[in-house]
Amino acid sequence: MRRQVHVNLGERSYTIHIGAGILDELGDRCRDVLQPCRVLVVSDSNVGPLYAQRTARCLEAAGFTVAQAEVPAGEQSKSLPVVSDLYSRAVSVGLDRDSAVAALGGGMVGDLAGFLAATFLRGINLVQVPTSLLAMVDSSVGGKTAVNLPQGKNLVGSFHQPRLVVTDPATLRSLPEREYAAGLAEVVKYGVIRSPGLLAEVEGRIEELLARDECLLTEVIAACCAVKAQVVEADEREAGLREILNFGHTLGHAVEKVCAYRGMLHGEAVSVGMVFAALLSVEVLGLPEREAVRIRNVLSSLGLPVCPPELRWAEVRGAVGVDKKGRGGEVRWVLIRAVGQAERGCVVEESVLERTWVRLLGQA
Ligand code: GLY
Repeated sequence: MRRQVHVNLGERSYTIHIGAGILDELGDRCRDVLQPCRVLVVSDSNVGPLYAQRTARCLEAAGFTVAQAEVPAGEQSKSLPVVSDLYSRAVSVGLDRDSAVAALGGGMVGDLAGFLAATFLRGINLVQVPTSLLAMVDSSVGGKTAVNLPQGKNLVGSFHQPRLVVTDPATLRSLPEREYAAGLAEVVKYGVIRSPGLLAEVEGRIEELLARDECLLTEVIAACCAVKAQVVEADEREAGLREILNFGHTLGHAVEKVCAYRGMLHGEAVSVGMVFAALLSVEVLGLPEREAVRIRNVLSSLGLPVCPPELRWAEVRGAVGVDKKGRGGEVRWVLIRAVGQAERGCVVEESVLERTWVRLLGQA
């Protein structure tokens, strides 16, 4: 089974190709959009040994000249010193304005290699080849690229759309269980903010999803990408609507930060953040209580945490306040009026926030 999702952004438009085994067609799909050129395949020490040779052979068979770069796995590679090493590698293998960077890996590699492509020679071609569920449904689509600074995550970055995204759900077989579940949190998010049908599909097919059924995954990833494409087409640079993609992330980021990014994966923190946002939505926008319970239940059935670690609200609230997306000093929450109807820019009273945190802790 194959699915394609088109992202319509004028001259920056591109297609997302999804299907089990499609990694072997990467060369042909690149030929659809690029002239034969040099390609630097960037991966990490987890993904490189599994898929980099296969990727390189496939690109070479299609007439591309391939070089490879591998960075250590882990968020610490998403840094300026590592980008600097990659610039040196790009120069030494002779990348020019017509060359391409292929980001082969999860969200870290996508953001890092994307930033390399966005900035080297003022921007060269980027091909995203995501191998984690989170990267497939979120970070490979939409053009956000970034590295971290010691002061915070994603503080240096750029919008740089890929020329192509090639997503092979068969690569998810090698993904550790927790990482896979963390990606499912983002899948649930798309259903909750924009697609009641997708949420119902997830609820009805938990077992198949947990078994990583590749046909179902192809459908589900395509559905998520279709939602993301629609949102990004309306607001490429996050001046408005795109903020709804941050549902669950405001609290999620704060919890990650207070835990110093240890012990909780991003998707796990977002899962807790979505339960919090759903409870806030009951208080602020009149979301029926049963819908908040439903969101909590689906996340829990997928093996995701729905309760936060025992942290003091004051500490978490402090971390919410310094989120870089807070504008004008006021925290603006993404909430839902109903499943599929997200509203951004919601201001919530401090007492409601604290009461909801206590309620969330109490659900343990
Ligand atoms: N991950 C949120 C966005 O791409 O806007």
